[in-house]
Amino acid sequence: MKKLVVFGLGARGNIYATFAKTYPEKFDLTAVIENAADRLEYAKQNYPGAKLFSDYRDFLKADIKADIVAVATQDNDHREHAIAMMKAGYDLLLEKPIANNLQDCLDIYAASVKYGRKVIVCHVLRYTPFYSTVKRIIDEGKLGEVVTIHASENVGYYHQAHSFVRGPWRNKEESSPMILAKCCHDMDIIRYLIGEECISVNSYGGLYYFNKEHAPEGAAKYCSECKYTDCVYKAQTIYLSEKGKEFAAYFTTKEKTDENILSDLKHSPYDRCVYFSDNDVVDHEVTIMRFKNGKTACHTMTAFSQNIYRDLKVHGTKAELVGIIENNDIEIRYFDGRTEKIKVDISAATVGKHMGGDYFMMNSLFKTLNGEKAEGVTYLDVSIESHLMCFAAEESRLNGGDTRLIKK
Ligand SMILES: NC(=O)c1ccc[n+]([C@@H]2O[C@H](COP(=O)([O-])OP(=O)(O)OC[C@H]3O[C@@H](n4cnc5c(N)ncnc54)[C@H](O)[C@@H]3O)[C@@H](O)[C@H]2O)c1
Repeated sequence: MKKLVVFGLGARGNIYATFAKTYPEKFDLTAVIENAADRLEYAKQNYPGAKLFSDYRDFLKADIKADIVAVATQDNDHREHAIAMMKAGYDLLLEKPIANNLQDCLDIYAASVKYGRKVIVCHVLRYTPFYSTVKRIIDEGKLGEVVTIHASENVGYYHQAHSFVRGPWRNKEESSPMILAKCCHDMDIIRYLIGEECISVNSYGGLYYFNKEHAPEGAAKYCSECKYTDCVYKAQTIYLSEKGKEFAAYFTTKEKTDENILSDLKHSPYDRCVYFSDNDVVDHEVTIMRFKNGKTACHTMTAFSQNIYRDLKVHGTKAELVGIIENNDIEIRYFDGRTEKIKVDISAATVGKHMGGDYFMMNSLFKTLNGEKAEGVTYLDVSIESHLMCFAAEESRLNGGDTRLIKK
């Protein structure tokens, strides 16, 4: 059993705490560091065995033994929190992005070297049965040599409206550029599947739609006061819908009844019209990557999809592979005419999200801490590559799609 500390008991931190509670033979939730009073109260009720701290400095003074600290505070705070923990001698499970700007990422990396600490970044896709199976198929040589990959991340219109127009990741100064916040997973997985270093990127995209130019005549600043009741982006419609309800946790800790949601939503930042928010992150972006040996990949991020899904096409010299992670289906189309269909099983994943990624990541973390070999686990030296690709893509996008070289 390994001692786990959760630093930031928000949506992500709570998944790690829940995993520990569900599998006490693997993790003991030794402490929680959380500065919001309601979250701390939640911790008191739900994790009575954990020591609670509202300030991480008090946690450090308490000199608590732990095998790993999960840093799950917001992007902007990762530098301060990750470095403080490493300096005190803790290894980290660090939420992605490593940090929201290049310098902070490099500082965290330098600190991990200086203090000799291990940092595993939560690139959850690596641990999903879907991408693990794709990786295995590639490694077995079933596709021949992989030459190019096409991947897309379909954010979902309602998810974009919640997270990237009204919510925590809407503004790149306050959080991160979209390519980093949303697509560092994709850059990591593309790099992992291609198996070669990325040499350069070009990126194009922008904030096309969620701005005042697209507001219909007479639209109100708050959805609760707007005459356009059939707008698909209407906050009340999104947060009362089956798929949008989970996001209500961002503005209410009450039971998720329609009445509670509507009252706590009213005039909160999440009630804002999508055309009148203070968002500046992109709603569509295409990134082209060139890898060593001339291999290529293309990634599209778009807000404009009915559902949230990622699709993948891997083109090899003997076969192509297609799949959508949310369907857990993989199809290999061999050039000799055969087709192989593979159904990926994620039924073991009882905790977390990301199509089993959270659950299998925690299992891999447990194995790694026990000194066993665990599939998918990588450390900062590898994880930082995806971030370098994202920062280079952002620079390229801001410079009209100019080629940016990746310097490691
Ligand atoms: N791995 C993934 O796929 C994935 C998915 C979503 C979010 N994330 C990342 O996870 C991180 C957390 O995201 P979230 O959605 O859980 O956010 P959140 O806002 O729900 O959680 C952050 C928590 O940290 C607490 N906190 C903030 N400052 C603190 C401080 N100084 N001391 C103690 N507690 C503090 C907040 O009160 C909050 O409870 C972000 O970096 C985000 O980008 C990763």
